[in-house]
Amino acid sequence: MKLKLKQIVVMTGLVCASSAYATDVEVLHYWTSGGEAKSAGQLKEIVKEAGYGWKDFAVAGGGGENAMTALKTRVISGNPPTAAQIKGPSIQEWGREGVLANIDEAAIAGKWDSVLPKVVADIMKYKGHYVAVPVNVHRVNWVWANPEVLKRAGVTAMPTTWDAFFAAADKIKKSGAIAIAHGGQPWQDATVFESVALGVGGADFYKKAFVKLDQRELTSPTMVKVFDTLGRVKTYIDKDAPGRDWNLATAMVINGKAGFQFMGDWAKGEFAAAGKIPGKDYLCAAAPGTEKSYTFNIDSFAMFAQKDADARKGQLALANAIMNPKFQAIFNLNKGSIPVRSGVSKNKFDDCALKSMDDMDSTSKNGGLVPSFAHGMAMPSATQGAVVDVIAKFMNSDMSSKDAVVALAKAAKTK
Ligand code: GAL
Repeated sequence: MKLKLKQIVVMTGLVCASSAYATDVEVLHYWTSGGEAKSAGQLKEIVKEAGYGWKDFAVAGGGGENAMTALKTRVISGNPPTAAQIKGPSIQEWGREGVLANIDEAAIAGKWDSVLPKVVADIMKYKGHYVAVPVNVHRVNWVWANPEVLKRAGVTAMPTTWDAFFAAADKIKKSGAIAIAHGGQPWQDATVFESVALGVGGADFYKKAFVKLDQRELTSPTMVKVFDTLGRVKTYIDKDAPGRDWNLATAMVINGKAGFQFMGDWAKGEFAAAGKIPGKDYLCAAAPGTEKSYTFNIDSFAMFAQKDADARKGQLALANAIMNPKFQAIFNLNKGSIPVRSGVSKNKFDDCALKSMDDMDSTSKNGGLVPSFAHGMAMPSATQGAVVDVIAKFMNSDMSSKDAVVALAKAAKTK
């Protein structure tokens, strides 16, 4: 990632509000849906409890693309926020720009090396020093369903294979409901695509193609099959999908307009905010063919170097607040994710969250744990952008699977 002036665009929809505290921490995030805003609110509370004001720098837009553009603008103008919601390899990219803050002081005091899994701690460090703090683990390869819609259509169980899924989707379509709730935005297209790829090709295929960017795997007959399957998925999406926000797609499942949605478990935050109970009002299952795999997406906040000593103190307080076990419980209960650190009570977590915890544990031992590329965990940001563009083009045109594979393999070479 290079910070170039031409990347500066005028952002709309920024919500900035200052507070009455002596020192504010300014936090850039993109948690603006109902469930997300509740979770962000918890962070705000704990920061205030620590004696610091919260300056909200919320940029609407699922997946965070708009937020990243806004961030670049602020950093280029020499006025970075205290912290920003940045994850995965992007943390290293920002580290290389020389703009991140070393927060080892908080990490040592909080024993982060021993309460975080090593793979997670490594992502949070730049050149061996902590520069970011993780807040959760989201699982991406979920399918959500409305049991009433399924029942009305005569679907008796959550599908575990793609064949069973398409048979169920046919029945739902026949019953008059929409089979798949989807929002036609590139990051949502990629979210569905990566679950299809994992289900069709398995974890090893996924890792070779999307982590190692292996050209042989990217151009394999399996990848053609992935696009064929995605092409079938497309036929169950309604015509109003283009541009629809993900939480509005979740609302379609909540209110019985649609049967299924493929989405990470931030969708559970929406079900929870609507007062819905898992197992009763909605169902969660691993996306077809992915029961033994787990696509992880870890939200984290990277810390930006501050000139002012008080601002620096506020930053360390924010880092401590994020790692507080009580906070990680309450935040993740609202967010739909699971805590990333050890030592957090599992008491109040629901069955979908407990399944996520168990599955993360078992897949970390059987090789099924893979990083979500749609959510910035697997590839450099430029590569991710190019790959996602190909998927979005496939979703929005009559591009053939074979042409898509050629374009995908080329996009994967983007640096
Ligand atoms: C993900 C992010 C989640 C959620 C989602 C929708 O990339 O990790 O926390 O916000 O996008 O915006």
